[in-house]
Amino acid sequence: MAFRRDGFAVVEGVTTREDLDRISRIMARLYRRYPGLARARHAVDLGLGAAGAAAPEILEINHTAALEPELATTLTFQRCRALAEALLEAPVEHRFDHAIYKPAFNGRATAWHQDEAYTLDSALVTAHFWVPMRDVTVEMGCMQFIPGSHREPVRPHHRLDRLRHAHALEADDVDTTRAVACPLRAGDVTVHFARTLHYTGPNLTPIPRLAWSLVFGRRRGLPRRLATKGRRLWRTLAPPDAEDHRA
Ligand code: NI
Repeated sequence: MAFRRDGFAVVEGVTTREDLDRISRIMARLYRRYPGLARARHAVDLGLGAAGAAAPEILEINHTAALEPELATTLTFQRCRALAEALLEAPVEHRFDHAIYKPAFNGRATAWHQDEAYTLDSALVTAHFWVPMRDVTVEMGCMQFIPGSHREPVRPHHRLDRLRHAHALEADDVDTTRAVACPLRAGDVTVHFARTLHYTGPNLTPIPRLAWSLVFGRRRGLPRRLATKGRRLWRTLAPPDAEDHRA
């Protein structure tokens, strides 16, 4: 299937605009607390320049579902978990989530990286969802991936100097001519493996871009079992070539 071959997939119609509106309201509550969360190291500006940028560039809040447990009850969360079970062919558990806000004309890309470079634990098998709160174009900073990069080793990454204290790494020597950009409609998501190289560009539009990122991983020590609910959802939503992994 596309996900195993390319290391990423677009899944359309995973959630509803109503559910995204609900999540956006909860996120707005969290972003009002941003200064306090930043002091408590729950939040960080991933774009702040060394000389101090005039305005925040990439505002990240980590562990949003722990801060606002209502998030785990949303359709989006439940469906991403079900899809993760289908994709990973095993029971999964929620491992991590964060919200990433790119203000209008933020002027800063999220560098090419592999999420596995942060954990360096190849025993973890995880599915990483990216859920924008509204339609997202290349100019707004949609996800971009390098197909097949999940089958290659973890690249050397360097820490971005201007972010010495933050959670931001950039992969070396990425051939960006292979990049595939994935603009989405509200309700669509992308999903990728921990090792798939990915990037989002700067927001070049007057429209702020808010995305929620969710990671689910295989539960350890449990027998492999394909959850019926997730399998059914995957059959309904997956692109036409998604069934050939059963061959
Ligand atoms: Ni990432």
